Amino acid sequence: MKNMKQIPVLGSGIGYRNEIKDELIFDHSEVDFVEVIGEHFMGKSAYMQQELMELMAEYTVIPHFIGCSLGSAEGVDLKYLESVAKLLEKIKPPYWSEHIAFTNCHGIEIGHLTPSPYTQEALDVFSKNLEETQRIIETPLILENITYILNDPIQQMTEAAFLKNLFEANPDIGMLLDITNLYINSTNHNYDYKEWLSTIETNNVVQIHYVGHDLRDDFLIDNHSYPTQEPIWELMTYIKAKCPNLKGSILERDNKFGSMLDLRSETKRAKNILFN
Ligand SMILES: [Fe+2]
Repeated sequence: MKNMKQIPVLGSGIGYRNEIKDELIFDHSEVDFVEVIGEHFMGKSAYMQQELMELMAEYTVIPHFIGCSLGSAEGVDLKYLESVAKLLEKIKPPYWSEHIAFTNCHGIEIGHLTPSPYTQEALDVFSKNLEETQRIIETPLILENITYILNDPIQQMTEAAFLKNLFEANPDIGMLLDITNLYINSTNHNYDYKEWLSTIETNNVVQIHYVGHDLRDDFLIDNHSYPTQEPIWELMTYIKAKCPNLKGSILERDNKFGSMLDLRSETKRAKNILFN
């Protein structure tokens, strides 16, 4: 990623959710920065704009989006991207993030991050959409690996080869490595995450996500509802040496927040592993 050196080290942060707002605003302990879901702040609601201002007064805020649908074969929604650009103009973050996925198919909202088929055609779609996105938005973009349930029968390459090719074809884009998603995929699809990490360009990793996973019917699920389990901490320790340009880590809890003390002890542990 070309602009990597301009991005400051942010340290160990947490995904901002309304449920933990007061604790975060009044106490910074063990939280260096926050990541917000960009779509939550794209509307004109005065209440939400106020909430964003309060957060920005306390922390560096990194916007993480879920609806740009950069894998849509019909192209990106320019109006949507202009709204993203407006929010980024307000926040002025060092980078923003999205997923390697599509959420819209010919005008129909899927309501879920959907993996692209691992084909050359899908790679070409991404490159075209990323070119268009970067034409509208100058802020550096990093893209996140997601979980997948099925091995698509039309795939021409592995997920790791797809990501390697995607980042090679788009050298201005950095990576948001979700280590929980990697752990889930490697367990559910029975492959070695170390091999996966040796295939992709890990110098390109700007930020990581981590959180605990769920287990249902022998299948790991990324529902962001549990404390980070030991194998994920082991993976975090493993990736430290592999990602020399890492700038930040985000604990990505969405449900069952429990005690803020426990969340802070997780961000502290991540900081000790990655940034000390
Ligand atoms: Fe994530």
